[in-house]
Amino acid sequence: MARKTIIAGNWKMNLLPVEGEEMVAELKERIAPRENLEVVICPQMALVPLALDWLYDSGIQLGAQNCAEKLAGAYTGETSAELLKVLGCHYCLVGHSERRSLYGETDESVGGKTQTLLNMSIIPIVCVGETLEQRESGAHFDTIGAQVTAVFNKVDPEAWTRLVFAYEPVWAIGTGKTATPAQANEIHRFIRERIKELAGEIVANATSILYGGSANASNAADLLGKSEIDGLLVGGASLKAMDFSQIIASFK
Ligand code: 13P
Repeated sequence: MARKTIIAGNWKMNLLPVEGEEMVAELKERIAPRENLEVVICPQMALVPLALDWLYDSGIQLGAQNCAEKLAGAYTGETSAELLKVLGCHYCLVGHSERRSLYGETDESVGGKTQTLLNMSIIPIVCVGETLEQRESGAHFDTIGAQVTAVFNKVDPEAWTRLVFAYEPVWAIGTGKTATPAQANEIHRFIRERIKELAGEIVANATSILYGGSANASNAADLLGKSEIDGLLVGGASLKAMDFSQIIASFK
């Protein structure tokens, strides 16, 4: 089964309504829907209902950046997966390194959120990756292996083929320092091997693994050209329609 290629823009805590609307309007002029490519935009939460309108009939999918592990109730400030579903989100990021490092998300809570999203038929894009310190001390394989394992420990086997992963080395996020395509491919292969051990070959071969971390119009084609890289999760370069459309155009 051919894996789906996904290019997702994580706007993080950027863009006000006028800016987001302009960005999407320009993006729609610059790109045409393509059968073999899924383009996704993940705006900050309050923009999600607006973005559903902006993206109407564009073929571009809507994603959120985070959701609660719990279903509903007294969890001030949280957003339920059920609400994301009602608001039209097809995707949701989970366990982004900023959430892990700034908001205390653990491998276990990331696994729990992933299952919660799957219960709502939202595709989770589970982010994994090592810090610079972990890479320099040679702990990157163990770190990433544990992050991936925790997800499979929490997720029902019937949902395994609906998972998407994103490898985002923390040292490459927002730093202008990209993992080389070879470095990224090595980790992607490791993740796929780990999935194979945990869930079998069919699941491993079906799972799209995106790369994120200073992806831009200059390096996108090389990254996407690697056998194990099934797409990109783009931060800074997804905020401008011109940059993001060039990244999308580099997928052949
Ligand atoms: P940058 O592309 O800005 O490095 O961010 C990557 C990222 O964190 C996407 O989720």
